[in-house]
Amino acid sequence: MSEKEASVIVKPFGKTKDGQLVHLYTLTGAGGAVMDVIDYGGRVVRLSTPDRQGKLEDITLGFNTVKEYEANPGPYFGALIGRYGNRIAKGQFTLDGQAYSLPTNNTPAGVPCSLHGGDKGFDAIVWHVEPLTEGETVGLKLSMTSPDGDQGYPGTLKVDVTYWLTPENVWKIEYEATTDKATPINLTQHLYFNLKGQAEGDILDHTLTLFADKITPVDKGLIPTGKITSVAGTPFDFTAPHLIGERITAKDEQLDFGCGYDHNWVLNNPKGKLVKAAALFEKTTGRLVEVWTTEPAIQFYSGNFLTDEVPSKTPGKKLCRRGGLALETQHSPDSPNQPNFPSTILRPGAVYKSTTEYRFGTKE
Ligand code: BGC
Repeated sequence: MSEKEASVIVKPFGKTKDGQLVHLYTLTGAGGAVMDVIDYGGRVVRLSTPDRQGKLEDITLGFNTVKEYEANPGPYFGALIGRYGNRIAKGQFTLDGQAYSLPTNNTPAGVPCSLHGGDKGFDAIVWHVEPLTEGETVGLKLSMTSPDGDQGYPGTLKVDVTYWLTPENVWKIEYEATTDKATPINLTQHLYFNLKGQAEGDILDHTLTLFADKITPVDKGLIPTGKITSVAGTPFDFTAPHLIGERITAKDEQLDFGCGYDHNWVLNNPKGKLVKAAALFEKTTGRLVEVWTTEPAIQFYSGNFLTDEVPSKTPGKKLCRRGGLALETQHSPDSPNQPNFPSTILRPGAVYKSTTEYRFGTKE
């Protein structure tokens, strides 16, 4: 028996600064979860899931207006990320003998790189959205075409992303893309979680498990060194559950470079099956989210660069450093320049496909 009637409702959400209309789609799942998505960046604005008493709370960081999203692009709250999630060293890569140059929109430790698709990535465009219903599952199909040369990337890239909200409170994301010239592609979703509720303090008291025993260590510019190293005996070992705050201030060069956790864990997933990548739990509310993916890696970002200057959705309640965390399924950073990492090159005739599920629940 369903707790609610599944539905999709559309309302106006405002306008971008160049006058494009932005719409808000409310997906109500039969299992009780409610998700608000805007076509600007395919962003999840609110996501409410039941706690162990059944009480709904918004557990994701976001803003109330388009203006705030445009004025604060840096944290990529709830956004679809493309063409390339994560960093590309110096904003440069060579493909089939040709050199390409991307906007260097990020400078960790003063070292320029291209982050999350460049100056105007997929997080900052208005997607075409079609509401979907299949039985008790509701969804949205988000589509866009990125023109040849967009942000320096080659080829016309056609992208479809489908969000599904199932009666089991699973948010399933299906990515699909084709191109007419070879191009790197690494799509992801940049939702931040705070399972106590957004603006309810930091996430250091959340318990995380990462089903991965290796990371791609980075240099001070947060670019992978090319090595793939074991997490055993380091603060990066989340193969058994650990509180996020437990070792985040440990003396460790990688934690220093990331100002906390901002690293890529390599999943044991060579065949691209749907595997469990992460589990996040918060004990006072009992909320639990499992992350399942067909991707070979996951970025765990502990919100180190968030501050109370980022506006909050709730008047009177400020955000704070580490007020949310992101678990971004993807290929490893800088793969176009890393011959030892799985390839991120999509060629004409091939179809890019990737699936990620965030499975919401509770436990005692
Ligand atoms: C990256 C962080 C970056 C953040 C931007 C994350 O995916 O790993 O380094 O600061 O995105 O909000």
